[in-house]
Amino acid sequence: MISPEVAGSEAPTALSVIEAIRRRRSIRRYRSDPIPESVLGELLEMTRLAPSGCNAQPWRFVVVRDEATRARLAEACTFVARRSGEVYPQRWIAGAPVVVVAWGFERDAGAIYVREGQAIVADGAEAAEDARHMGVGFQSGLLIDLAIAFDHLALAATALGLGTCWIAGLNEPKVKEVLGIPAEARAPLAMTLGYPAEWPGPRPRKQLSGIVFYDRYS
Ligand SMILES: Cc1cc2nc3c(=O)[nH]c(=O)nc-3n(C[C@H](O)[C@H](O)[C@H](O)COP(=O)(O)O)c2cc1C
Repeated sequence: MISPEVAGSEAPTALSVIEAIRRRRSIRRYRSDPIPESVLGELLEMTRLAPSGCNAQPWRFVVVRDEATRARLAEACTFVARRSGEVYPQRWIAGAPVVVVAWGFERDAGAIYVREGQAIVADGAEAAEDARHMGVGFQSGLLIDLAIAFDHLALAATALGLGTCWIAGLNEPKVKEVLGIPAEARAPLAMTLGYPAEWPGPRPRKQLSGIVFYDRYS
């Protein structure tokens, strides 16, 4: 079902962030209408304004509009079910007029590692070097930062009447190869963008009572 507010309204008044959070759905069927340059520009600007650990802004984005490249990218977006080993293609992705891939270098992000139980904040390159000397692992903030930027993108897109779907089910080396992203970078997330040809109902969420604890976990 297409939402009456969304169908045929290419330049809607932007929803509030609260309305956008309530309205957002994962959209997997899109109309072929292109996204106007001004709308795409605004969405990327909202993405750019996202916060990041240490304000490192380690993100980069490839905005894929070219049809042939979208088809190749969609072919690279497969995931495997652990139990059955079955490979699931996500060819529907090629039907979105724009697919954005978020990528970056772990060394460019803030990072956290633990020394004697205490979290140490460092930049990615420092953390990698310290962790190598100390023989401990470290956690790059890259994935967190990319996810925050993408949530800005998803909510801003919803506010302007577009649909989105997060994509983490992908073959990262293949995605990097299709888009010319360096092999040593990470490219863990994609997001489809376009005017929706469906507007599904809300997917279930857990009750607050099962996930929120005041003052102390009990
Ligand atoms: C990090 C992340 C990765 C996701 N990866 C995929 C994906 O690869 N393919 C897909 O169809 N949906 C993907 N989704 C969409 C989720 O399935 C969807 O958000 C969830 O079922 C809730 O539905 P809703 O977004 O409509 O509320 C992903 C969502 C998130 C947040």
